[in-house]
Amino acid sequence: MNNNIQFLLPAEAMPKYWYNLLADFPEPLPPPLHPATRQPVTPDVMTAIFPENLVAQEMSPERHIEIPREVQDVYTLYRPTPLLRAVRLEKALGTPAHIYYKYEGVSPAGSHKPNTAIPQVFYNKIAGTKHLATETGAGQWGSSLAFACSMYGLDCTIYMVKVSFHQKPYRKLLMQTYGATVYASPSTQTEFGRKMLAQDPNTNGSLGIAISEAIEHTVTTPDTKYSLGSVLNHVCLHQSIIGQETIQQMEMAGEGPDVIVGCAGGGSNFAGLAFPFVQQKIKSGANYRIIAAEPASCPSLTQGELRYDHGDTAQMTPLMMMHTLGHDFMPPSIHAGGLRYHGMAPMVSHCKKLGLIDAVAVPQMKVFESALQFARTEGIVPAPESAHAISAVIDEAIRCREENRKEVIVFILSGNGLLDLAAYDSYLSGKMQQTGNDA
Ligand SMILES: Cc1ncc(COP(=O)(O)O)c(C=O)c1O
Repeated sequence: MNNNIQFLLPAEAMPKYWYNLLADFPEPLPPPLHPATRQPVTPDVMTAIFPENLVAQEMSPERHIEIPREVQDVYTLYRPTPLLRAVRLEKALGTPAHIYYKYEGVSPAGSHKPNTAIPQVFYNKIAGTKHLATETGAGQWGSSLAFACSMYGLDCTIYMVKVSFHQKPYRKLLMQTYGATVYASPSTQTEFGRKMLAQDPNTNGSLGIAISEAIEHTVTTPDTKYSLGSVLNHVCLHQSIIGQETIQQMEMAGEGPDVIVGCAGGGSNFAGLAFPFVQQKIKSGANYRIIAAEPASCPSLTQGELRYDHGDTAQMTPLMMMHTLGHDFMPPSIHAGGLRYHGMAPMVSHCKKLGLIDAVAVPQMKVFESALQFARTEGIVPAPESAHAISAVIDEAIRCREENRKEVIVFILSGNGLLDLAAYDSYLSGKMQQTGNDA
């Protein structure tokens, strides 16, 4: 074991290939189905909203896909990201466990989301797209896509879930600073948004509704494509750079993980850290416990059904085999906006089905208690989404204390919470409520 706290990789150690878990699943992933015919979708259905090169990646069975030079160039603005050992948190918990975290909050937008925004914008640019439309929950994805569009000179329109639009005005301003146009969703810009507003003018909105608006915007605007920040196979693929770096950094630290943890909304940061370790589990029987931490009020993995469902509320997307609470599920307005999604990435759902990963659900108040403990020991204010992982890690570290086990825990700190301080205000001032199943 190495006594350093920070494990930094040299620039040249940044992975040159993304890793595709599809190539290694012991059972194939059920394909997405056409919503009308219920037959497996063909690439032409997807090219209505995505460029051909990304559709090819979405369906690719290749194990390794080369990261284009132009994408590597932008990645080097913040990658490789650091791995740190949380020695002060370990001490505060009195645990014999060693806790490491892979910190993705060092990206320009403050989270892991640019890892896929950058290649998605790049592939769109070379395919001739001029304009991208998307949705965002907490605003982390929207600011990442806005940042990536500014790198490659594309226009960007973002439908931001209404509750976050009001809770997180600085995220909206960040997107506008990068040059994007931002609407609170449901909006009056689209037919579906107007329909939702007519049904309930005071609705908080949801990611499912915002996705429907962004897709409608895409198919009704020339030279426009749609971009999704989670759930899809190509997003999990791009995020695999996280876990590949972590494997190298754990080697530098001289330890191997026993427990691997990530928060899960649509599943992308979790997949990014976990999938390269899942590969080791499949290939060499490595005995890791891999845990996805989700909100108790939007518990798709722990309480959702595994079945075919739509990715959006208006039922425009193909049907995906995933853990879902139902495409019309309206999550309560918790402060981790990025975790308010009814479904889970099909690849993450498949891992759960095959017993390769576990999941836990964490209530909101406990999440913020953990977030404060982390901020006051490690110094980084975590994004509320990431604090779900911290909470699960603290539970594991306490278990290690009680069982006197010296396990190694590694988790992904997917983003910083510096633009989420309104959520901290709500907690610190005693206004935060338990929500939904949280109570
Ligand atoms: C910081 C952060 N972590 C996690 C998530 C959840 O998304 P995913 O499950 O795709 O990583 C989000 C979503 O916006 C986020 O902003």
